Amino acid sequence: MLDIKVTKTETPKAKPAKDDPLLFGTIFTDHMFIMDYAEGKGWYDPRIVPYGDITLPPAATIFHYGQGVFEGLKAYNAVDGGVNLFRPDMNAKRSNRSSDRLCIPEIPEEDFVQAIEELVELDKDWIPNEPDHSLYIRPFIIGTDPFLGLRTSAYYKFIIILSPVGPYYPEGLDPVGIWIEDDYVRAVRGGIGEAKTGGNYAASILSQVKAHDEGYSQVLWLDGVYRKYIEEVGAMNIFFKIDGKVVTPMLNGSILPGITRDSVIQICKEWGYDVIEKRIDIAEIEEAWKNGTLEEVWGTGTAAVISPVGKLRMGDEIMQVQDGGIGELSQRLYDEVTGIQLGKVKDTRGWIVKI
Ligand code: PLP
Ligand code: COI
Repeated sequence: MLDIKVTKTETPKAKPAKDDPLLFGTIFTDHMFIMDYAEGKGWYDPRIVPYGDITLPPAATIFHYGQGVFEGLKAYNAVDGGVNLFRPDMNAKRSNRSSDRLCIPEIPEEDFVQAIEELVELDKDWIPNEPDHSLYIRPFIIGTDPFLGLRTSAYYKFIIILSPVGPYYPEGLDPVGIWIEDDYVRAVRGGIGEAKTGGNYAASILSQVKAHDEGYSQVLWLDGVYRKYIEEVGAMNIFFKIDGKVVTPMLNGSILPGITRDSVIQICKEWGYDVIEKRIDIAEIEEAWKNGTLEEVWGTGTAAVISPVGKLRMGDEIMQVQDGGIGELSQRLYDEVTGIQLGKVKDTRGWIVKI
């Protein structure tokens, strides 16, 4: 158990106005959590301090070689008046798996969750109450060694910041358009694709800019070898409903193992759907679209929640999914997942941690 020292801000900021659209990730709360690591000493000095800039040596590993990992989860104002976290243990586990891949020292899962709980408890008045709003939690670990040689850092910082957010996409729950990238790739097997680390996102920005310019919200990545098997979207995993079955790319080492993905698979199975995790050739999706069996497409993610996809652009072809609206299963999943998160739907799976 961490002994977290708390220094409260003496100048609390004004909370966002009720009608503030809370554009994703633009506003931050009054406090942040920081813990340091030094080789031979381990993790030490866990503390909550006023939110603010941090000072780092310009030679720090994170700036040059990207040795860092991050996580994303949310806190919700529940209908019973309490504060809910959704499966934070899964974030703690995934953070450690990402860290293992990047040679970053692990953080005990219970310490990771405790730090989140204490920070959120302190800043819980920042959790918005409006529908589809929540407090986004961004834990991250960075290598801070002031050394330009390439090696694992001897020093790290584990930091958690909080941001009250509205929907990730300006579309809200309205279906988004997805651009299938057939030129660049995001990750390859054996690389760092399944780790939540900045490099994967840096690799995706150029395509995302291109997609945005063409009026699409995000990029759907194909595999880095054959350039035809579906991987995931820039900030979410992807699901298809084809001829009554739920189909999603299997975890293959280059896809982020999404916690929402895992939850949706479990829920769909409990609802009696056949859920198939497999390698999906993009040609199968095109075929299903052509013969009318592509019933629904949606993305899953912490920021994106359940995000219906209305159209997919592939080369010169634009595949509109049915009438381009929200599919029945996508809507049902959205209601179920957000219902559990807000405490409106009974948590039968032990996913909610109350603060
Ligand atoms: N894939 C990528 C690349 C992501 O950034 C995210 C978001 O975290 C996801 C998938 C979905 O993961 P999760 O459901 O754990 O948020
Ligand atoms: C999340 O959904 O938590 C993410 O990390 C995606 C990010 C691009 C906002």
